[in-house]
Amino acid sequence: MMRSSVLIRRMINTDYEGLVCLWKKFAGNTMTGADSPEGFRGFLGKNGGFCFVAFVNDRIVGSVMAGHDSRRGYIYHLAVDEFLQGKGTGTALMSATESALRNAGIEKAHLFIYSDNMAIRFYEKTGWHRRHDIEVMSKVLIGEQYLGTRTEE
Ligand SMILES: CC(C)(COP(=O)(O)OP(=O)(O)OC[C@H]1O[C@@H](n2cnc3c(N)ncnc32)[C@H](O)[C@@H]1OP(=O)(O)O)[C@@H](O)C(=O)NCCC(=O)NCCS
Repeated sequence: MMRSSVLIRRMINTDYEGLVCLWKKFAGNTMTGADSPEGFRGFLGKNGGFCFVAFVNDRIVGSVMAGHDSRRGYIYHLAVDEFLQGKGTGTALMSATESALRNAGIEKAHLFIYSDNMAIRFYEKTGWHRRHDIEVMSKVLIGEQYLGTRTEE
C-alpha cells in the first residue's frame, strides 16, 4: 500500500525496537507488560494479520495493533509521529486494520482511550462513536494491583 512517501505494511517481529521508540513519545499510548519483547511477539503471533506499521525511508513513523477473540475486535497502539500528523496516515492505518478485521468476519471493534485524549476527535471523524452506557472495569491478574495511575490499559 502506498501513500505518497509513506508506506504501510503488516507489522513484523523485527519492527519491535522502532515501535517502542515511537510509542514512548506519546503519553496516551500506555506501555504495559504486554509490550515486553515476549508479549509483543506473542500478540503478533496470534494477531499479525491485524497489525500494521507506516514507515518513511525505513523509519517507523506510525503503528496500529489489533486483534480479536472471534466476537469483537480490539485496537491498540495507534500512533503517528508528530511530524507526519494531519496528513492521513492515522486514517490509512485504521482503514487497514478495520478492513482486516472485517475480512475476518468481525462485526464490531472496541478501543480504550483516556477521556482527555484529543485523539477522540480523530476517532469520531473516522466513524467511531463514544459509549455513554458502559463503564470499563479492570482487574490485575499478574503483578501490582491497581494504583490509579496511567501505567495500565
Ligand atoms: C490520533 C493520531 C494517530 C491521528 O493520526 P493522523 O495521521 O494525524 O490522523 P489523520 O491525518 O488521518 O487525521 C484524520 C482526521 O482527524 C483529525 N485529527 C487527527 N488527530 C486529531 C487530534 N489529535 N485532535 C483533533 N482532530 C484530529 C485530522 O485533523 C483529520 O481531520 P480532517 O479530515 O478534517 O482534516 C495521531 O494524532 C497520534 O498519533 N496521536 C497520539 C497518539 C494517541 O493518542 N493515539 C491514540 C491512543 S488510543
